[in-house]
Amino acid sequence: MNKILITGGAGYIGSHTAVELVKAGLEPIILDDFSNSQKSVLGSLEEIIGKPVICFEGDCNDKDILEEIYSQHKFVGVIHFAAFKAVGESTSEPLKYYRNNVGSLVVLLGFMQEKGIKNIVFSSSCTVYGQPDKLPVTESTPRKDAESPYGNTKKICEDILVDFVKSKAGVKVVSLRYFNPVGAHPSGKIGELPNGTPNNLVPFVTQTAAGIREKITVFGDDYDTIDGSCIRDFIHVMDLADAHVKALGYLDKQEDNFYDVFNVGTGNGNSVLEIIKTFEKVNRIKLNYSIGPRRDGDVVKIWADTTKINTVLGWTPQYSLEDSLRDSWNWEKGLSH
Ligand code: WQD
Repeated sequence: MNKILITGGAGYIGSHTAVELVKAGLEPIILDDFSNSQKSVLGSLEEIIGKPVICFEGDCNDKDILEEIYSQHKFVGVIHFAAFKAVGESTSEPLKYYRNNVGSLVVLLGFMQEKGIKNIVFSSSCTVYGQPDKLPVTESTPRKDAESPYGNTKKICEDILVDFVKSKAGVKVVSLRYFNPVGAHPSGKIGELPNGTPNNLVPFVTQTAAGIREKITVFGDDYDTIDGSCIRDFIHVMDLADAHVKALGYLDKQEDNFYDVFNVGTGNGNSVLEIIKTFEKVNRIKLNYSIGPRRDGDVVKIWADTTKINTVLGWTPQYSLEDSLRDSWNWEKGLSH
């Protein structure tokens, strides 16, 4: 059974991808430093998958841990999730983000070249587009100056991957530009585990519904959108996980020194207020929210053109926005805060 190293594999998207890899007949090997994930995820994964998932604790910047893993598990591909992702924190602590997000990729690529490991799927983000001039965004939409050091690390990592492929190092790369990941595994056994106060909208919504947060603040309702609140493309984490499996299969068919990039979104935009209203409807819950000031750095509206991933990878989203908001609430309800 082919083994795939998942860096950050105990995290939100990584754990859901581990489930989908097993379903596809692959064996995930997790490397995680647990800086933004919990070890309890491993037991939950075992419950879902029906067998233990192999996990090593460590930092992707540490070549020794990669050597240790490879000495025991000759993985043939990598999915690189491990990165810090708090937009605000990246502004106050940029070096922490450059060291971790960019440094770990450089170490990982050097290791892959040394061992002749070819395939890597990289976790990128729609944040590289900034505020697009035209919507929906396609992969050829020009990238813009990042709104944050976090966003900049994603752009820099994409550039590193392109240059490394051009150097004829032999690797084959897909960058997946995620839109807004939401939802949880339908079993309710794994989901998003934000550290401290959630930065992102949906975990804040579910924690408000659970009474952990007093209310949601909608960061601005005076934008040029259907209801004045920002618009995003909210994609179910299970659909996102499936896109990684399909990306690996796609890489298997390519020649060495290959690079491609795909948007991973639903292709639909929904506003912040629509998320709140849909959550209330789907879960029959009244949410306490108020309108607050705009949040610095927020893009007003962005959603994906998914033609390329639909046609080239044969991937289409299987879950609806209602599924995402139902599954995220189902997960939150099961958390013993
Ligand atoms: C979505 C919308 C907020 C919280 C970022 C990164 C992206 C990805 C996901 C990491 C915005 C509004 C939010 C709240 C609100 N990275 N909002 N009240 O900023 O689109 O994307 O996180 O996973 O790369 O850029 O996601 O969920 O923070 O915000 O009104 O309490 O919800 O203003 O319009 P964002 P988000």
